[in-house]
Amino acid sequence: MMKLIAPTAALHASWLENLDEWGGIQQDGAGVRRAEAKGLDLRSAEDFGTWVDTLRADERPGSHLPEGYAPSIVRWAVENDDYLGAIQLRSALVSRSLQELSGHIGYSVRPSARRRGVATFMLRSMLETAMDQGLEKVLITCDDSNEASRRTIEAAGGVLESVRQPDDFARELGYPNPLRRYWITL
Ligand SMILES: CC(C)(COP(=O)(O)OP(=O)(O)OC[C@H]1O[C@@H](n2cnc3c(N)ncnc32)[C@H](O)[C@@H]1OP(=O)(O)O)[C@@H](O)C(=O)NCCC(=O)NCCS
Repeated sequence: MMKLIAPTAALHASWLENLDEWGGIQQDGAGVRRAEAKGLDLRSAEDFGTWVDTLRADERPGSHLPEGYAPSIVRWAVENDDYLGAIQLRSALVSRSLQELSGHIGYSVRPSARRRGVATFMLRSMLETAMDQGLEKVLITCDDSNEASRRTIEAAGGVLESVRQPDDFARELGYPNPLRRYWITL
């Protein structure tokens, strides 16, 4: 049975298989950039443990958060101790980048686990967490051409606000395509 769990160092081997499947492409919502910013090598068991601890600590506000970071909750979808995907809830749109580009929630599913409802399951569960956190609505964005993500968001009740054309700011941060902006009222 699929479950959503907090990041754990116990799944290092399975997480690395997932990393190899991605072949260097960014995994949305996994918090990998947080490891890169700290210079961690996620292939090392020790650094992986430090990263997991960092993700858990990032759930709380405080001076350990980098500038422009809101407290955030990362959860992993797992099945029989296999890592399937990750989803991240940013508690507030505290930066221009969150407001204009990435929104409250980001997620990704490892290539070998796609089209089995993992993203749909993760998003539904995380929306309950968002509600528990007192959020009234969440912004979720996706590339205009990302049909899988669009369908995931729409199935969870996402209402399209607009499709924004990229500006220089968006391009600089790696969003070169038109971006669909959805709100989900909780
Ligand atoms: C987008 C992504 C998270 C979807 O994950 P998933 O677990 O395969 O999605 P699900 O199985 O829950 O399917 C969700 C919907 O997308 C559809 N879908 C899934 N893959 C699809 C594809 N390649 N093409 C078209 N539709 C697709 C499913 O049919 C389903 O729609 P339906 O309920 O109307 O049938 C996954 O493809 C991924 O990780 N992509 C790369 C990272 C990314 O784009 N993240 C989102 C950034 S906003």
